[in-house]
Amino acid sequence: MKFTYFGHACFHLELNGTKFLIDPFITPVGNDKTIDISSIQADYILISHGHEDHIADAILFAHQTQATVIANPEVLAWIEKQGYSKVHPMNFGTREFEFGKLHFVPAQHSSGLPDGSYGGQPGGFIINTPKGVVYYSGDTSLTMEMQLIPRYAKIDVAILPIGGNFTMNPEEAVIANEMIQAKHIIGVHFDTFGYIKIDHEWTKELFQKNNIPFILPSIGEIIELPLSQ
Ligand code: NI
Ligand code: MN
Repeated sequence: MKFTYFGHACFHLELNGTKFLIDPFITPVGNDKTIDISSIQADYILISHGHEDHIADAILFAHQTQATVIANPEVLAWIEKQGYSKVHPMNFGTREFEFGKLHFVPAQHSSGLPDGSYGGQPGGFIINTPKGVVYYSGDTSLTMEMQLIPRYAKIDVAILPIGGNFTMNPEEAVIANEMIQAKHIIGVHFDTFGYIKIDHEWTKELFQKNNIPFILPSIGEIIELPLSQ
């Protein structure tokens, strides 16, 4: 699998021949100055919840990529209101796609849309393909729901928020992985705002001490990870 980091909790995944753009949020924080956004392609755009910092660029990239947008029905009602209708609603559950199974799973957070409308329940995604399995938790605290994750599939890579304040911090993400049992963790949702600044060296050492292969990506960084087999 190939992971490209666009800053905050926005990233691109290539997995089993399919391109995913997750939680589009690049231009509001000026990351389009370092990332060539016109080259971003996607078959699917996945949105974990309705908060601005996960959805602000959804319409821009939906039109650019003509991707199918997958999110809960409340988030998609907002997307459709903005004039984009190639959508696939999911609530917590599983669905087969041509790339494999997609599981939409609960997160412990909140979800309101930029216009103040109700965003439904926040969630995370397990992209479960024969060529590798990725779990993106979305914004969440540490939650017992994570005990269920390994029952869906063996997780190759878990992409977890680690900035604290609104989500898990690094220590909580270490505990989360006792439940998730991922082979690799990629940290996201850090440094973008003052509330979520983290100490990079301390964070890397913490994961190392706990023997968890951990990556703290830089904006624009591309990471190729081994596939499960
Ligand atoms: Ni949020
Ligand atoms: Mn967020």
